[in-house]
Amino acid sequence: MNKFFSVADVDDLSKVVQDALALKASPYDNKALGENRTLGLVFLNPSLRTRMSTQKAAMNLGMNVMVMNMDKDGWALETQDGIVMNGNTVEHIREAAAVMGEYCDILGLRSFPSLKDKEADYTEDLFNKFVKFCGVPVVSLESATRHPLQSLTDLITITEHKKVEKPKVVLAWAPHVKALPQAVPNSFAEWMCKAQEQGLVDFTIAHPMGYDLCEDFTRGATISDDLEESLKGADFVYVKNWSSYQEYGEVYPVAQNWMMDNDKLKLTNDAKIMHCLPVRRDLELSSEILDGPNSLVIKEASNRVWAAQVVLKRMLENLK
Ligand code: CP
Repeated sequence: MNKFFSVADVDDLSKVVQDALALKASPYDNKALGENRTLGLVFLNPSLRTRMSTQKAAMNLGMNVMVMNMDKDGWALETQDGIVMNGNTVEHIREAAAVMGEYCDILGLRSFPSLKDKEADYTEDLFNKFVKFCGVPVVSLESATRHPLQSLTDLITITEHKKVEKPKVVLAWAPHVKALPQAVPNSFAEWMCKAQEQGLVDFTIAHPMGYDLCEDFTRGATISDDLEESLKGADFVYVKNWSSYQEYGEVYPVAQNWMMDNDKLKLTNDAKIMHCLPVRRDLELSSEILDGPNSLVIKEASNRVWAAQVVLKRMLENLK
C-alpha cells in the first residue's frame, strides 16, 4: 500500500478488518517493522483522535513520530502554481511537501475543505499536490472529501459489535450550528456501499431534503428523508451532521427534530449508536444516549488505533 485515501485503496474489506482485529489482540508483534522508520503527521486543521491514535499506532509498530501543526507552527502555504508570491503565503507546497518527504518514510496529512470552492475541494487539489510533491507514501488523516481512517474504524467497530450476519446500518443526518464538511459521511457511505456490495451490511442514509450527498459516494444505498421510517429495524445508527453539497457549504433550517434520542432509539432494533466525535451534546446526539448502554462512541474512538496500525503496517511492509 502506497497511499491510503479511499476505500479503493483496500482490496479486501473483510481481510483488512480481520488484520486490524489481530493487531488489537497483539499490538506489539511488529515492533521491529518500524524500527528506524519515521512517520510525519502534518495537520492543517485541529484533531484529537486522529493525532493521538495514529501516533500510538506508529509507536506500537516501533516507528518514530514527528507532528507538524502547519496551521499554527508552519509557514503559510501557497498551493497554486503561476502565482507571484508577494502576498501572505510564504512557502509553496512544492518545496514544503518535498522537504517533509526528505525527513519521513511515511507522511499523514489532514486538510479540511474550504466549503467555498467545490471544484478545488472535490478534486482534492491540495491533498493530490501533497502526494505528488512529497515523494513518500501518504495516509489521509481526513481530506476535503473523505476520512478513510475513520471509516475503516467504523467498519471494524460494526464487525465487532454486530449481532446478526448482515446488520442494518443507518447513516442519520443530525443538527449542528456550523457548516461542517461532507468528508465523514461521504467516506462512511463509500465504505458502507462497498460493504453492502459484499453482503456485509444493509445500508440506508436518512437526511432532510437539501442535504443529498454527492452520488459518487452513495450508489447502492437506500436514501430517505424520513428519519423515523429509516430507523425501523436498525442495528447501528451512525449520527453525523453535514452541510449541503448541492448549495455547497450552505446550512438550511430544518423544522423537524433530527437529533437522535431515546424516543427514536425505541424505533430501532436496540441499535448501537455511533459518532466519529467530537460531538455536540444535546444538539447532535442526546446525553442520555451518549451516557447510556447503546453508545459505541468511546469504543469506536479506541478502534482508531487499530485502523491506523493496519494501514501503517501495510505501508511499512511495502517500503524498500
Ligand atoms: N473523529 C476524528 O477524526 O476526530 P479528530 O478530529 O479529533 O481527529
